[in-house]
Amino acid sequence: MSVNQAEDPRKVTTHRLQQMKERGEKISMITSYDYTMASIVDEAGVDVILVGDSASNVVAGNMTTLPISLEQMIYHGKSVVKAVNRALVVVDMPFGSYQISPTEAVRNAIQMMKVTHADALKLEGGVEIIDAVKQILAAGIPIMGHLGLMPQSINKYGTYNVRAKNDAEAEKLLSDALALEEAGCFALVLEKIPAALAKRTSETVKIPVIGIGAGGAVDGQVLVLHDMLGMTKGFSPRFLRRYADLNSIINDAVSRYVKDVKNSDFPNETEQY
Ligand code: KIV
Repeated sequence: MSVNQAEDPRKVTTHRLQQMKERGEKISMITSYDYTMASIVDEAGVDVILVGDSASNVVAGNMTTLPISLEQMIYHGKSVVKAVNRALVVVDMPFGSYQISPTEAVRNAIQMMKVTHADALKLEGGVEIIDAVKQILAAGIPIMGHLGLMPQSINKYGTYNVRAKNDAEAEKLLSDALALEEAGCFALVLEKIPAALAKRTSETVKIPVIGIGAGGAVDGQVLVLHDMLGMTKGFSPRFLRRYADLNSIINDAVSRYVKDVKNSDFPNETEQY
């Protein structure tokens, strides 16, 4: 049975996310990369769909998010937007598309918005990318910031360990969050940081803060769809709650299909013309 959890069927906007934070209503966000999954996720009532560059890992099979291209993100973004009626759709700007110069960043951002018809874009980084953020915002494109563990910078850190555990890094994260808010970002993602720091950040900035591995005292949560559905194997960080075991379900279905084909049990008389 499919269930639409959304109490308000109207299209989610950045303005509505702000109202949700103000009245203490939690924001649900999840990733999607294709039409079919996005239509299921949207119908289930999620508030924000992130076309994450995690597509590089879970769809394209890369070790990191770095290889995915602008064209590939546009392809995923376009496929998702076509399926969605209610959720706000945010597309990740891929590595290399906004770091070279603010002019190039705004050109790529405009291209992404024009072709995908998404509602907003997400960029990783704080003060280092603030000029690009400001120029994209000046073009009228809403931006969601992303701080803490920033997978596009994995080669700088070398590990996916919890970020901002010491005071200096925590203060830097807070000042980055304030800078992104002041520039005009409509929301922030905080990935894999101590829960106390995430709470402090969400109390400091007025815009919604969405956490992944950042504890419960923030304004919403995001998970990667393939992880929370139990499709991916061998990835079990503490913050991940698996809501299904699709890996086993799919394996079982495909195994039974293979068996039926081998035994000439499929198709039967009613399954042919
Ligand atoms: O790409 C992605 O899926 C993300 C989430 C982990 C927030 O950025």
